[in-house]
Amino acid sequence: MTQDELKKAVGWAALQYVQPGTLVGVGTGSTAAHFIDALATIKHQIEGAVSSSEASTAKLISLGIPVFDLNNVDALSVYVDGADEINPQMQMIKGGGAALTREKIIAAVAKTFVCIADASKEVDILGRFPLPVEVIPMARSYVARELVKLGGQPEYRQHVVTDNGNIILDVHNLRILDPVALETRINALPGVVTVGLFASRGADVALIGTAQGVKTLTR
Ligand code: A5P
Repeated sequence: MTQDELKKAVGWAALQYVQPGTLVGVGTGSTAAHFIDALATIKHQIEGAVSSSEASTAKLISLGIPVFDLNNVDALSVYVDGADEINPQMQMIKGGGAALTREKIIAAVAKTFVCIADASKEVDILGRFPLPVEVIPMARSYVARELVKLGGQPEYRQHVVTDNGNIILDVHNLRILDPVALETRINALPGVVTVGLFASRGADVALIGTAQGVKTLTR
């Protein structure tokens, strides 16, 4: 199976976590796009979606799924999204698609976070994938210097402006042995909007696409 077929398999498998009559939190990226395609087949059974990016919003609307403002939503039963890396503790690196801040906000609201990923995203130790950090533009150099002090090599993601009008620094060469501590530390730097470490709020369920089928991991 190709990597995209594995992404499609988990995107469709995530439908089983969608409860009829509810609003669904929807992530961003190529795996989440498969989930949106699947969600469209049951669109008359759900109230609608809350979206983590302009790209996912456009796709949801094009398929006739109503998109709600999170400010008008009290609770979400489920949030379904991909990941760039996931470890056995179901902590993740996210933000390869630059949507990490909105993703983290929706993940915080949702009762259950379902991570959908192909098997190439599984790692024992997070950090091989460069860690995305969303930063207020004027703080770019300061935050980059601080990230170097933490042992990383930040690289400015050229020509990318997030949906929130900020920039992304991708931090290379980290071996993240204490994801919760690093998440807290980077988030505390002035100018950082969000770090793409989803450790203190990791996934509750992970659907991993393998050549043998979809593997389900739970906390
Ligand atoms: C978007 O900002 C990311 O967090 C994505 O969830 C992540 O990059 C996974 O993307 P793919 O599903 O395209 O691999």
